[in-house]
Amino acid sequence: MQDTRPFEHVTRDPWWRDAVVYQVYLRSFADGNGDGIGDFPGLRARLPYLAELGVDAVWVTPHYVSGGADGGYDVVDFTAVDPDYGTVEDVRGLVEDAHALGLRVLLDIVPNHTSDQHPWFQRALADPDSPEAARYHFRPANEDGGDEPPNNWQSMFGGPAWSRTPDGRWYLHLFTPQQPDLDWRNPEVVADFDRTLRFWFDLGVDGFRVDVAYGLFKDPAYRDNPGIYSPTLFGHGPEQAMTTNQPEVHDIWRRWRALCDSYAEPRMLVGEVSLADLSEVGRYARPDELHHAFQFRLLKSDWDAASFADTIAEALTAFDAVGAPAPWVLGNHDKARQVTRYGSVRRARAAALLMLALPGSAYLYAGEELGLPEADVPVASRRDPIFFRSGGKRAGRDGCRIPMPWEASRPNAGFSAATPWLPQPAGWPGHAVDRQESDPDSTFTLYQQALMARRLHPALGSGRASVTRHGDVVRVDLVARDGEPGPVTCWVNMGSAPVTVAARTLLLASSPGVPGPVDGRLTLAADTAVWVSR
Ligand code: GLC
Ligand code: CA
Repeated sequence: MQDTRPFEHVTRDPWWRDAVVYQVYLRSFADGNGDGIGDFPGLRARLPYLAELGVDAVWVTPHYVSGGADGGYDVVDFTAVDPDYGTVEDVRGLVEDAHALGLRVLLDIVPNHTSDQHPWFQRALADPDSPEAARYHFRPANEDGGDEPPNNWQSMFGGPAWSRTPDGRWYLHLFTPQQPDLDWRNPEVVADFDRTLRFWFDLGVDGFRVDVAYGLFKDPAYRDNPGIYSPTLFGHGPEQAMTTNQPEVHDIWRRWRALCDSYAEPRMLVGEVSLADLSEVGRYARPDELHHAFQFRLLKSDWDAASFADTIAEALTAFDAVGAPAPWVLGNHDKARQVTRYGSVRRARAAALLMLALPGSAYLYAGEELGLPEADVPVASRRDPIFFRSGGKRAGRDGCRIPMPWEASRPNAGFSAATPWLPQPAGWPGHAVDRQESDPDSTFTLYQQALMARRLHPALGSGRASVTRHGDVVRVDLVARDGEPGPVTCWVNMGSAPVTVAARTLLLASSPGVPGPVDGRLTLAADTAVWVSR
């Protein structure tokens, strides 16, 4: 495969090791055709914004024709674009424009399940003996005519993981009933996903975020899980051994990695690996498997120095053990926004500075750079199946999926001329990009400065880190990989009283007004982070 792509500012090789990837929630990013729904033309027009922010790549949430039951994660056709979002030609155009700006493009692939509207599942419903039925997990109807599901497996969105077909069979869905799980022991499934990957790679797409990469295989004997999953846990553990982290899944990642590496410009994969044990997560990022394996311990950490420091140290150890870069995440489309979780924009800014100093890759979720809070979505406007399936007990994810505010004085904060598909709360224009770009103290400017410094300074983002904790203060000492000069320390004060820390020069502070060091010491206010040289 021939690729000609002039990158002006590729700094380190390979690019993905220390990349900053910006996650776009496509439906909520920018509306190009004025129907209230974000789309590819809208995103394409906003690419210069991402270049200005200073990220390396963009990851776009699912763009396929979908049944609409789970925000696009229920796919009807893996090689077609949902008309809401545009066309395959729009994807090609997006990739071209992005490459011209030095940005890579990752799409989101969903191999664990399809939509119940997918032609395979439709055929499987119609004919239990069809080859299509053998691509899913069907279990026979109960002989006694009862309605006891085949085992104790639970949907992660609440309720049993089994639903019935009109003819009484059971089918497996680890998410909503509209998302039947595929059987990855069927070679036809494996081959079909190879074709899907090539389809998008041949178009120039640089890689994929892989949904539910810890799943895919289930216990072939359908034995009960030892325990029940709790959404409040850090990730799946041994209690979910029959439905997650089955050893065969690694064969698929080796296969996909080889496919990526068969391109002249190798493609990359980042998998969602929601496992509690970080050393298990690391195994997904071995040199011949996924390039990045997301760990969500940091994302799920409260504003607490011990929790942050321990998680960072543990993750660094787990990924070092396999020679992989650690991917860091503080927010995504599945989690309440950090401003609200931590309790203030000030804390969210401090956490961002901490994350962006760490060696490895960093994933930013659209709007994080604006300091957006979680929105309280009126019940009548809710869309997330988690909210409905839990009978309203779990808030769901709509509040972090609100359309972006671009220009404060335009209708719908510049997202669309029409009413946005999810309502923007009052006050949203106050967060708009155009307000923040020109403000030296804004959250946008902080992210921009941090990304610039990260690009220029060899100790930031790609060096070696050691993490310590002193009471409520997290300290990360960073040195460049190849012994280049200029160690940097990131200090974060997660407590409520000011502290004094060692510092020679102040490189960047998470909040305005941090006084420069005097006699090698700097006063760090509560909920503040700094990058300093010592
Ligand atoms: C992943 C996605 C989430 C989706 C689920 C099912 O966890 O991040 O948004 O609902 O998979 O596809
Ligand atoms: Ca649109």
